[in-house]
Amino acid sequence: MSNLQQADPAIYSAIEKEVARQNEGLELIASENFVSRAVMQAMGSPLTNKYAEGLPGKRYYGGCQFVDVAEDIARDRAKQLFDCEWVNVQPHSGASANAAVYLTLMQPGDTFLGLNLAHGGHLTHGSPVNFSGILYKSEYYGVEPDGPLAGRIDMNKVREQALRIKPRMISIGASAYCRDFDYAAFRSIADEVGAFLWMDMAHTAGLIAAKCLNDPLPHCHIVSTTTHKTLRGPRAGMLLIGKDGENTMGKVAPKSGRVKNWSELFDSSVFPGMQGGPLMHVIAAKAVAFKEALDDSFKTYSKQVIANSQAMADAFVERGYNVVSGGTDNHISLIDLRNKGITGKDAEIVLGEADITVNKNMVPYDTESPFVTSGIRIGSPAMTTRGLMEDDFRAIVGMIDTVLSDPTNATLIKNVRGSIHELTARFPLYDFVTA
Ligand SMILES: Cc1ncc(COP(=O)(O)O)c(C=O)c1O
Repeated sequence: MSNLQQADPAIYSAIEKEVARQNEGLELIASENFVSRAVMQAMGSPLTNKYAEGLPGKRYYGGCQFVDVAEDIARDRAKQLFDCEWVNVQPHSGASANAAVYLTLMQPGDTFLGLNLAHGGHLTHGSPVNFSGILYKSEYYGVEPDGPLAGRIDMNKVREQALRIKPRMISIGASAYCRDFDYAAFRSIADEVGAFLWMDMAHTAGLIAAKCLNDPLPHCHIVSTTTHKTLRGPRAGMLLIGKDGENTMGKVAPKSGRVKNWSELFDSSVFPGMQGGPLMHVIAAKAVAFKEALDDSFKTYSKQVIANSQAMADAFVERGYNVVSGGTDNHISLIDLRNKGITGKDAEIVLGEADITVNKNMVPYDTESPFVTSGIRIGSPAMTTRGLMEDDFRAIVGMIDTVLSDPTNATLIKNVRGSIHELTARFPLYDFVTA
């Protein structure tokens, strides 16, 4: 990094401090991970210089012969990884991929049915401050407040709502839902009401690729994802179709009158629909990450992500914490802190003082505002990448409990911070920049 250090000391210093923070601290944000150096090298490559609007072999610019190779490799690997017929690797982010879904399947004003944002759904699934809630009419299903399905989705209720609302699209996927989805049941409801079915697997893509969770691709019309969470690639998005075919919306090619395939509609929604030039350096980095994810070691990693997440959830339950739905099937645990007398906001702050990074999160039927919240969301992907195992995660829960049980005790927090630094020092991360 010597060029950067000399050319721009201010930015170098910010990076240096952030790297030290990542090295020393405990990263428990469920949506974050640590990419390999190979992924970072592709992202930091001169491919950033290249304009390549269009698709491989059909670009609007010359000189694309080598970036075409990179994008074709990324597409082929993604298809192999998810066993699907079509992908578009160009979305700049998860939100961009989702924008292309709406643009393809919905007209402004159309109604869709998705997971309540306060029950784990994402901003791009109909929040009033997001384009999805501004341009389209959102209706929600949620999780049960109590009973045998507490914290889980009741598919009978989803069906009742779908029959009543008759949405044009049903969305699945979440930012804070700890249980797996029943895609076959969702598809049967979608078919019954004549709706499109969309899964946003941004959070769980890596676990799905590793076959640790149910596979949405055989059941959904379209699947979107990020590539940077459990999939452990660069910060970006992607669209996938399990089985391509003629679209049922009557869209035809203007000159020939040929009925277009779904894949063609989604390709043109990404470009020129809502993006300009693709980020070829990021697409190359996606290709590298997909190669890593195709390796057997990624299955081992993904299984460990879930084992660690479950060890953490069990340890919270043992210590009297209310884990939403009583546990987890994936990399996330959502902890309702209402019986512990501390808000999500305060928990996030005080844990941050001990160099434990989590995020405050609404819990289902929350009584606090989204800025305060009653819960925290905790995830295992990043620290599993660093090599931590179940016992380490149980020990972490002990440290979190120590801090949350006595949140104003500065000496205690300082001691926990010391223990965290000892723990992270045993699992080195990036040593190419030192603080
Ligand atoms: C379910 C879901 N969809 C979409 C996104 C948006 O991804 P991005 O931040 O890359 O736009 C997120 C990000 O947290 C997410 O959790």
